[in-house]
Amino acid sequence: MLPAVAPRPELARPSPATVDRVRLDLDRALGASKLVTSPEGCLAHAGDESEQEPVAPDVVVLAASAEDVVRTFAVAARHGVPVTPRAGGSGKSGGCVPVCGGIVLSCLGMKAVKEIDRAEGLAVVEPGIVLAELYDAVEAEGLFYPPDPNSYKQCALGGNIAENASGPRALKYGVTRDYVLGLEVVTPDGTRLRCGHRTAKGVSGYDLTALLVGSEGTLAVTVEATLRLVRKPPAVRTLLALFDDVQRCVAAVAHVIASGPPPRCLEMMDAACLAAMRSQGVPVDEHAGAMLLCEVDGEPEPCERDMEALGGRLTDAGASEVLAAQDEAHRARLWAARQELTNVLRRLARHKVAEDVVVPRGAMGRLVEEVARLSERTGVRMLSYGHAGSGNLHVTLLWDEDEQLAQVKLALSEIFRLVVGMGGALTGEHGIGLSKAPYLALEQSAELIGIERRIKHLFDPQGILNPGKIFPAGGHGAC
Ligand code: MLT
Ligand code: ZN
Repeated sequence: MLPAVAPRPELARPSPATVDRVRLDLDRALGASKLVTSPEGCLAHAGDESEQEPVAPDVVVLAASAEDVVRTFAVAARHGVPVTPRAGGSGKSGGCVPVCGGIVLSCLGMKAVKEIDRAEGLAVVEPGIVLAELYDAVEAEGLFYPPDPNSYKQCALGGNIAENASGPRALKYGVTRDYVLGLEVVTPDGTRLRCGHRTAKGVSGYDLTALLVGSEGTLAVTVEATLRLVRKPPAVRTLLALFDDVQRCVAAVAHVIASGPPPRCLEMMDAACLAAMRSQGVPVDEHAGAMLLCEVDGEPEPCERDMEALGGRLTDAGASEVLAAQDEAHRARLWAARQELTNVLRRLARHKVAEDVVVPRGAMGRLVEEVARLSERTGVRMLSYGHAGSGNLHVTLLWDEDEQLAQVKLALSEIFRLVVGMGGALTGEHGIGLSKAPYLALEQSAELIGIERRIKHLFDPQGILNPGKIFPAGGHGAC
């Protein structure tokens, strides 16, 4: 087990007598087939893909419908027990870890595609659909759902909505929030609420849809989403640009963005990541000190022209070599290596934390320089990769000895201070969750956090929905 980088909030679990009553009431409301109470079944719903310590819930509800979610909240509210919503369980900030036990509400069984409307360019789907299945369903209709978190083969839409997830294609297409037209949710008092619209435009009232997307499962549970789709781009071309060092590489990102239309992806890997790629059998020139994986898309002829132009911009910006993926198989190999990077890095040391900080693109050079300096000072190995086109870097810390934990914590808080000082954000795609809750006050004022807490209280006066996330029990230090 990884030592805790961020402390787990001290929140009391429900008493054994309450757990018995909750299980009994859930059994009556939903039937035994929708409940998991075995220790191994509960353990399977205890953690996510972050470094956060898993915590077994007391009972798991396998919801099959919106009505199941309403019934679950009725029982939870009656007994005042926590409910932690869960979709694919692939989150990176501890958002679905049930820190004080209680009920895990799994929406993975709600995976229907209720409607795909080609003319309107929308889909109505349930939250348990795995993203790769959503891609298949809409692409069969010639449509495209652009958000592409790295875990798209495992993660489910409900979690993506909770975390406002994104990935490489965010550079051109934006993030999950940009594709959610409307939601049906259940609030902790059991109210079914519809917000948003299914038309191309719609601005009535407050934009609760935008608020709910990215609320990290702390305000309500999504039971249906209306998604905006775009036409599937018929052509995609992929380029690899090699650089002598990471400084030249991040400077090239700023040049590419400033000198023409944005590519759909500009993914950066530093020297340590390239070494890890080579270890996967990807033939990367051993002299390269950094790499950009770049993509353009569109109609075939303009796409070809954009690729040529992008190659020129990369060369102008100092790339030592620019190579085009020769065919679909070559392209798939490059992306497979990029997608596997997180797992390859995990094998390099006993412990790993991958952050997802965002800085202005022009500040990336300073960030990687300061991270290298910090690594030297603390003795903690650090490397960076990620969505450089969006200024969103996975600064990754690797260490082997438990005694290094103090240095890791020191390094993390320095990185967050640095990022905020540059006008950046603690998280660009993984959410605050448990991992970054202690640091939120570095980025946001006490007044702003106060308003967010009041919004939380408005939706969840009993504090039963996903406690401990975003807002640690003891406050944020600075507020
Ligand atoms: C990625 O882009 O690879 C993910 O967001 C980070 C990870 O999987 O560690
Ligand atoms: Zn990422």
